[in-house]
Amino acid sequence: MRGRLRERLKGVIPPESLSLVPRSYDIIGSRGKAVAIIEIPEELRPYEAEIAEAIMELHRSVKSVLAKESGRAGDYRLRRLRLIAGDPDTEVIHKEAGCLFKLDPMKVYFSPREATERGRIASKVAEGERILVMFSGVGPYPIRIAKLRGDVDITAVELNPDAHNYCVENIHLNRVEDKVHPILGDVRDVCPRLEGGFDRIVMPLPLGAYRFLDLAIPLLGEGGILHFYHWAREPSLFEEAERLVSEAADRFDREAEIIDRIKVSQYSPRVWKVRVDARIL
Ligand SMILES: C[S@@+](CC[C@H](N)C(=O)[O-])C[C@H]1O[C@@H](n2cnc3c(N)ncnc32)[C@H](O)[C@@H]1O
Repeated sequence: MRGRLRERLKGVIPPESLSLVPRSYDIIGSRGKAVAIIEIPEELRPYEAEIAEAIMELHRSVKSVLAKESGRAGDYRLRRLRLIAGDPDTEVIHKEAGCLFKLDPMKVYFSPREATERGRIASKVAEGERILVMFSGVGPYPIRIAKLRGDVDITAVELNPDAHNYCVENIHLNRVEDKVHPILGDVRDVCPRLEGGFDRIVMPLPLGAYRFLDLAIPLLGEGGILHFYHWAREPSLFEEAERLVSEAADRFDREAEIIDRIKVSQYSPRVWKVRVDARIL
């Protein structure tokens, strides 16, 4: 995909503007219907219709092109998106590793770029595990796990009603009703009511998951695994995340044994989304 859009726009927009055309953009959906999401620099605004047209020519499945109008914000982690061309109905069914995720990117968080990370988490799960996915969105983590493993019991908690409703639909679409149990609500209200002893808890809310560690730690059984996401600044990428997890464990007279740490994706030149995995003893 990289560079093809610029190539396509040669002779359509002024040559001096070509270098401003983004090298990449997201496509969410499937062969039948997809949406493209692109960041258009201010200088290219006069040509956004041509850019959208070129994207739709390059990818026949793309029926709507949305421009990013803001960074992600608020509890639901949404950004403002503006339709610049195509169908105003932006609900799609995204395919990922044999799973189907129905969603509207105007209403819910979803990133196709996180597919590899979801696969990494799913592959760590063993048969028979009882798992809590906090901040579960439209359900990509629980559904990827449930499709890979035969015998798992997953509770998925999400605050955004639109995301929760899509999660319920996606559970049916993927036929994992017996394995994934979605709950609409704030983890602050829901988690204290859950029965403890989870084998694994996933916390995919990099901006702020640390605020909820005190809800997660007591719900983990002895030796349970925590997947903790965090925004981290170079050069010491894991120090703060590890300290936050260890201090939270400490508050409950538990011990956190750090068993893995990875850079998940880069946010800006020196800021990364990282994941720290800990066994809570
Ligand atoms: C970064 S998104 C991740 C969504 C999903 N796990 C995914 O990977 O697509 C974080 C999600 O957490 C939800 N959220 C934020 N605060 C929450 C809270 N206090 N309780 C439950 N869900 C929350 C947001 O609505 C959002 O859907």
